[in-house]
Amino acid sequence: MKVGVVGAGAVGATAAFAMVMSGSASEVVLVDANEKLAAAQAQDIAHAVPFARAVQVRNGPYSELAGAGVVVLSAGVAQRPGETRLQLLERNAAVFGAVIPAALAAAPDAILLVATNPVDVMTQVATRISGLPRSRVIGSGTVLDTARFRALLAAKLCVTPKSVHAHVVGEHGDSEVLLWSGATVAGVPVDRCADQLGHPLTAEDRAAIDEGVRRAAYRIIDGKGHTAFGIGGGLSRIVAAIAGNEQAVLTCSVLNDDVLGVPDVALSLPRVVGRSGVLSTIMPDFSAVEAAALKRSAEILKEAATSVEA
Ligand code: LAC
Repeated sequence: MKVGVVGAGAVGATAAFAMVMSGSASEVVLVDANEKLAAAQAQDIAHAVPFARAVQVRNGPYSELAGAGVVVLSAGVAQRPGETRLQLLERNAAVFGAVIPAALAAAPDAILLVATNPVDVMTQVATRISGLPRSRVIGSGTVLDTARFRALLAAKLCVTPKSVHAHVVGEHGDSEVLLWSGATVAGVPVDRCADQLGHPLTAEDRAAIDEGVRRAAYRIIDGKGHTAFGIGGGLSRIVAAIAGNEQAVLTCSVLNDDVLGVPDVALSLPRVVGRSGVLSTIMPDFSAVEAAALKRSAEILKEAATSVEA
């Protein structure tokens, strides 16, 4: 499947590189207002193809997006140290007002995959601007947070992350919700499994894992100025689910009719993802604490969306 990437900065270029290394796309076109940057990123990634998969990688104008099945939207400004994702909203909503019409003029049948932060509200903005069905405007949402949660739990239990089933829902941001009540390994709740494996989970362990997921980006940004590898891998994973019509369950963000009484809000829940986008949504069995936290997250996102009339 051909994939367009609008925004050839660290996130977009890393996502393109991940698609080459995994083969999740057959062709990748990088588009950026800074043509010199897009050309350099495309050339650099193309030099990895001989070590990876036979993926065609190039840069070009929007017209080169023709025929793309997915267009990744990674254009916009990124968090500076200490800046929250929601603080990027006004600047990035303006960017989307320009790039989305141009992308859809070339690739009207594409699914839009939003990476630009604050990704949940940007997904709602992209849905409004594009006029596409909600199922075809997907935000990377908490796919990355879910991966972080699984990785930290796996490290504590001494199992591989792929054997941990745990989800993060809500905002990809400070109000996200780690669903401890549904976290399992081999179908066994993580608390009991941890005891069986001889690595009991203490309250301090839970707090450390929560902080490790919730504050991961801030720490990485403080150290290297941005994040890219985690989100790049997450975007490539979503592209693979679409390209392969996998019907994979991923915690992506889409505009929901209602979340726990909060109408028209974009946030992450477990979604079944396939060739036509989000096929359906799974509503987890929340604990009372988790339900309250998710409702709070929805209210925070709803308020932010109102500020840009998303
Ligand atoms: C992060 C960015 C993608 O969490 O928001 O790494």
